Amino acid sequence: MNTPLSILGIAGSLRKESYNRAALRAAQKLVPEGSLIEIFELDGIPLFNQDLEKQPPARVVELKSKIRAADAILFVTPEYNYSIPGVLKNAIDWASRPYGDSAWQAKPSAIMGASGGAMGTSRAQYHLRQILVALNMHVINEPEVMIGNAAQHFETNGTTDEATTKLIRQLLHNLVRWTRRLEKGQPD
Ligand code: FNR
Repeated sequence: MNTPLSILGIAGSLRKESYNRAALRAAQKLVPEGSLIEIFELDGIPLFNQDLEKQPPARVVELKSKIRAADAILFVTPEYNYSIPGVLKNAIDWASRPYGDSAWQAKPSAIMGASGGAMGTSRAQYHLRQILVALNMHVINEPEVMIGNAAQHFETNGTTDEATTKLIRQLLHNLVRWTRRLEKGQPD
């Protein structure tokens, strides 16, 4: 019997009607049995200031402790001007500091995203992957969940259509398997 696995879900949008926040809430319901997704909202995280990295604001302390307590991380990113939104990069930067005290170190992770454009955050996701290399995170490669023309794939209540739901379910299944494999090998 496997121990329960906890995934921290972070969406890179503060927008009330955000497709990415909706996709994260949908993922919460699609996670394999024995695992759960806790959502961390990025509201209230101030702009990064390196002068404060050794005494970070309370919300950043909270974020770092949630990351550390999680077995895996699920990033759900919008695409802003072909990259990830500043709100997400800002949170990533805070939790990576100070040097030698990154909360992200060696965490298994997965990426998905929704955008208004046809390419479904693909460019942002590849930028995010590059950032996660700097953080030494272990990111799964497939399936790529790139939800383009987002309005066409979400119901008005925020649930995803059948094809998108299937992809998210597969991503979470792969993330859980990957996390359990890494736990056995404990790479860092
Ligand atoms: C966008 N949008 C966008 N879409 C896209 O497919 N490629 C892009 O490069 C951009 N660039 C961009 C920049 C900025 C500043 C904004 C505000 C928006 C549109 C974007 O996909 C759309 O607003 C999504 O709905 C944003 O995600 P949430 O907030 O719904 O999760």
